[in-house]
Amino acid sequence: MRMLGPSVMTALPRVSARAMALFIPLAAGTAPPTGLIVDTDIGGGACMDVDDVAAVCAANAIADSGRAELLAIVQNTQPPACTGVISALLHHYGRDDLPIGAYKGDGLDHSGQLSYVADLANNFPAPIKNSSQVPDAVDVYRSVLAAAPDRSVAISSIGLMTNLETLLRSGPDQHSQLSGSELVAKKVKVLAAMAGAYPNLRAPGVMKECNMCGCYNGADAKSSATAGGASAFVYSNMPASVKLIFSGLEVGVNVRSGAVLETCAPASSPCRQAFMDYKRDNSGGWAPKGRCSWDPLTTLVAALGVSDDLGVAECTNCSGYNHVDPDGSNHWVPGAATNQSYLVLNDADVAGQAIDALLCQPPSRRARSE
Ligand SMILES: *[C@@H]1O[C@H](CO)[C@@H](O)[C@H](O)[C@H]1NC(C)=O
Ligand SMILES: *[C@@H]1O[C@H](CO)[C@@H](O)[C@H](O)[C@H]1NC(C)=O
Ligand SMILES: *[C@@H]1O[C@H](CO)[C@@H](O)[C@H](O)[C@H]1NC(C)=O
Repeated sequence: MRMLGPSVMTALPRVSARAMALFIPLAAGTAPPTGLIVDTDIGGGACMDVDDVAAVCAANAIADSGRAELLAIVQNTQPPACTGVISALLHHYGRDDLPIGAYKGDGLDHSGQLSYVADLANNFPAPIKNSSQVPDAVDVYRSVLAAAPDRSVAISSIGLMTNLETLLRSGPDQHSQLSGSELVAKKVKVLAAMAGAYPNLRAPGVMKECNMCGCYNGADAKSSATAGGASAFVYSNMPASVKLIFSGLEVGVNVRSGAVLETCAPASSPCRQAFMDYKRDNSGGWAPKGRCSWDPLTTLVAALGVSDDLGVAECTNCSGYNHVDPDGSNHWVPGAATNQSYLVLNDADVAGQAIDALLCQPPSRRARSE
């Protein structure tokens, strides 16, 4: 961060430290706004859940308030109608023009989806109904990254690592002469990933985290091998200059959000409808304040940074890196400093309230497209 010169400092003697912290980036005026890409397994595949809906809706609310620029949403799973859910949510927020992509590799056969997927794709207005109508996610990633200022992009990875693997393995194309790895190193400043458990999840009998292994909900061997292989590849090939913040199973599981949509949002909101469908059909995963908040919390961290305002901090005394095996298990390897860390939860209520406040924020751009 650039510091203000002494003359400016003396001109503002009574400004509090907190106000100065807010003032400095504005005064500097050179840092580009964070551009946000959300890479989601919304509603379908081995780790299907409804918290992706909270993540995508919250990302739109953050963009509405100008605190980040939403650049693209990409789907990292196979079920075609999940792309229709993304389009329904973007339409609700007046963003029909936002790029959407979907994983088009052949490694995923898991076609399971939650009940809200068909409900939103069939019953809510949207220009796109399924993944056949959008480009390959790697094409969207490369196009958006190529156009972004250097080190300005935050990625919220809230599903499988399939798209990120394809991106890192990609070569030069019409969007950029750079390889995928070079493009990521040049353009991405932070990757916040809901993936794994920290510092490890290796106790005997403990399940692996789903986004790392793609192995829940009756996943077939081929789909799990694709998902686990992608995770191991991505976290051993991510350029070292990218800040990696892992958001573990143990963080989001303790934060609940989304129930408030029932009363704060109108019936015409697809964000609300997805949560109501989930509450009706998946009551085992529901609590009074709603669903676990793995994905929205990770997305807020990607877009807004780690802060007390989100009830989370980065780990301390955790110098080292995350090791991921091809079966999707992970553990933290203590050692030399890297640009990797993981989240610790300080206040679950603060985290949940930060998410709920965004979910209840009415769309501000809607009139432009309705
Ligand atoms: C995808 O949606 C389009 C437009 O509604 C439709 O014509 C097509 O049959 C759908 N494809 C699949 C695989 O559902
Ligand atoms: C961390 O990232 C910065 C760029 O943000 C880079 O200069 C530095 O070398 C990285 N540190 C390590 C240990 O890789
Ligand atoms: C820091 O971590 C190391 C190993 O990871 C441990 O041995 C040590 O006790 C920790 N120190 C503190 C102050 O927690």
